[in-house]
Amino acid sequence: MPDENCSSLTASKAVFHYHQRTKHRLDAYAKGPTSLDWEDQPDPFRRFEGCDTVPLPLPGREVECLFGDLDRPEKIVPQTLNLDSLGLFLELALGLSAWKQYGPDRWALRCNPSSGNLHPTEAYLIFTGTSALPAGVYHYLSHDHLLERRCHFEPIKSEPALYIGLSSIHWREAWKYGERAFRYCQHDAGHALAALSYAAACLGWRIELLGETADADLAGWLGLDRAEDFIEHEREAPDLFCRVHASTSPDRFAPTELSECLRHARWFGKAERLSRYHFYRWPVIDDVAHAAQKPATPAERWQAPVRPLPPVSYNLPTGRLIRQRRSAQHFDSRSAALALPDFQRIIQAVLPNAKPPFTAWNWAPQVHFLLFVHRVESLEPGLYFLPRGTGDVDAFRQAFSKEYAWETVAAPFALYRLFAGNVRQAAKTLSCHQSIASDSAFSLGMLAQFADNIDAEPWRYRRLFWECGLLGQILYLEAEAAGVRGTGIGCFFDDAVHGVLGLTDDRWQSLYHFTVGEALEDARLQSLPPYGHLQ
Ligand SMILES: Cc1cc2nc3c(=O)[nH]c(=O)nc-3n(C[C@H](O)[C@H](O)[C@H](O)COP(=O)(O)O)c2cc1C
Repeated sequence: MPDENCSSLTASKAVFHYHQRTKHRLDAYAKGPTSLDWEDQPDPFRRFEGCDTVPLPLPGREVECLFGDLDRPEKIVPQTLNLDSLGLFLELALGLSAWKQYGPDRWALRCNPSSGNLHPTEAYLIFTGTSALPAGVYHYLSHDHLLERRCHFEPIKSEPALYIGLSSIHWREAWKYGERAFRYCQHDAGHALAALSYAAACLGWRIELLGETADADLAGWLGLDRAEDFIEHEREAPDLFCRVHASTSPDRFAPTELSECLRHARWFGKAERLSRYHFYRWPVIDDVAHAAQKPATPAERWQAPVRPLPPVSYNLPTGRLIRQRRSAQHFDSRSAALALPDFQRIIQAVLPNAKPPFTAWNWAPQVHFLLFVHRVESLEPGLYFLPRGTGDVDAFRQAFSKEYAWETVAAPFALYRLFAGNVRQAAKTLSCHQSIASDSAFSLGMLAQFADNIDAEPWRYRRLFWECGLLGQILYLEAEAAGVRGTGIGCFFDDAVHGVLGLTDDRWQSLYHFTVGEALEDARLQSLPPYGHLQ
């Protein structure tokens, strides 16, 4: 057997091993710290000491486009790329959306959600020309809404481009969640990708995921491989690389040209320490990160079909909708049922479509929904299955328990009722006993085509979580546009979910849960403006 196949086999084994080992079980949670020193929580904001900084114009500006306008992104007039538009883009994607205070505790929320609000995702811009900024690599610091200039290089002669790269600080997430944290970092990266795509669309721009990029190249371009600039255990792993198609943008992506530019770059700054101690170590995260590293791959650009969507109920300015997005911590289990048109719009919005954020996604759907319907107008409570692909459902029928009814539901999309009845308790139990999964209008599990993908290319393990995160971000914003609220659920009992479906092998695995309904506000929490500290 050639070496390459051999190492891919070892890598896929390591991925299966990690996934199996980090399942929560009804009788035991995945391995995590036994105690948390809240005083030493890793700083959620990365800063580089010794860099020039570029302040971005004061955040909070509104964009004209309404959320419904994003259904036809080609109609949005592109804004010129300058510091104003760039600042708005970064703010709407990854900036702060509020501060919350409870007693002496104060924490920031951001436009992108994050498991445990730990925010392992970091973002870097690369300018190859001198349009809005001198050529260089810049780190976005959302707390101060500024760019830290990590390096400078000679601008390229050909048409300049703007790129954005995302990375994860696994430690930030592992500090609290231990071994399962690698999964959450990937979810968060998927959410961030969708957040970038939505924010770009507001400005008439488009995000193109350059999914062909090798992790090693990305690490070099973003300066993540500069071990001397980071504290051990607080390094960043490269995740996603995108081209921003702003008012003008070159058509071709030339990785070799980028590498050539950066070969002669001058780098500045060192990452500040995030936490004093690193008591717990989770070597299995380093193992899976290594096994799921992405090599360079052929460029793929799967085109989603054009799918007209029904209107949203609350067609708010997109900036407002993005900034008001929150995770519900409690749902009102006695609220009116979710209106059927809202449910149908939300579900249609997660089907592949030639609109943001799918315009930033390059692959046919690998993730399907298992819906726990509690209170949706004209829809009998029960367990439903929503295939997100175009193929027939026979593969699912054969894989799932033979007891299920597979009744076709009249809807503008393919939806099957597996079981009619109250599934609230099941939803709650399966999602780590969290009542957010049972008190909402509906909750769901995201079932991914698993073993085939990992066997084909182990790095797709991460891609499956990114897809789930991207779908989660759609659900968050669509919920707001329906006048309700969503919450991502990373905590669930993996094999108990599979057991409900009668799945006994790893062809399909549930990778993320989500819930949508009427939120109950916690009046004890004080809300403060996101950037009051900059004024
Ligand atoms: C991947 C992921 C997993 C999450 N898992 C849970 C969960 O299991 N339970 C929960 O109550 N919230 C969960 N959340 C919600 C986060 O706690 C929330 O995003 C974070 O506190 C920030 O708040 P915000 O979404 O209002 O900005 C999850 C969010 C993400 C992105």
